[in-house]
Amino acid sequence: MKVKIVEDYAEMSRDAAEVVAAMVRQKPNAILGLATGSTPLGMYQKLVQLHREEGLDFSRVITFNLDEYYGLAPDHPASYHYYMWENLFRHINIRPENIHIPDGTAADVEKECKNYEARIRKAGYIDLQVLGIGANGHIGFNEPGTDFGSETHLIELTETTIQANARFFASEKDVPRQALSMGIKSIMRSRHILLLASGEAKAEAVAAAVEGPVTQMVPASILQLHPDVTFIVDQAAAQYLTGSFDVLLQNEKNAEYDKANR
Ligand code: GLP
Repeated sequence: MKVKIVEDYAEMSRDAAEVVAAMVRQKPNAILGLATGSTPLGMYQKLVQLHREEGLDFSRVITFNLDEYYGLAPDHPASYHYYMWENLFRHINIRPENIHIPDGTAADVEKECKNYEARIRKAGYIDLQVLGIGANGHIGFNEPGTDFGSETHLIELTETTIQANARFFASEKDVPRQALSMGIKSIMRSRHILLLASGEAKAEAVAAAVEGPVTQMVPASILQLHPDVTFIVDQAAAQYLTGSFDVLLQNEKNAEYDKANR
């Protein structure tokens, strides 16, 4: 696991966009795993700029989003469909048929989750997965306690997540209580993973994910066992790191995890 500590949100966003752009330049038909929330907004702005000013070409790129609220239609302003179109897709030359986001209105949720996982598998799995992190250590919407072996599934949001995301809704009671999310195993199958974190509110989660024990109670801690993960965190989010992650290459643990899961 590599941890890059940058000055602030602007630098994190620029660096993250460069990682994504490098992937797209190197592999024009790259499969990107995308995240929502406030954290990647600056990265998306920068990617739009790279498309407009330098012709970064998304015409063959395929995307899979991590999650969607259960019960929200794609045109609901707080849905992740809406977010993705507003903040990225409508500004770049991606083909609509190459965009995948779980359907929050699916009548048969279990079937939708299975289909979503099958679409990822059929595409050949994700080349680069971008992640944010919840203050409780969640990735995607995989709340503490989620099985490390999980694939795309319906989850119950925790009270802290509902409160944290209430800012996107008229009131807290309007926040859906459930969401469809790629599972931990779906995320771990990605070839490269980039996790972004900014601000003091994420500092404890970052320290627990990077330097704490690998535990289902901190979903992001599983990333210690992935062979190609980079965290880009700003100074505020990095404030509780002690530096021991330099030796946290975890080769033995990687081997153990590979044996059990691949
Ligand atoms: C949300 C999303 C996650 C996101 C996280 C942090 O609930 N489902 O994908 O990474 O919480 O959000 P933010 O970046 O707004 O702090």
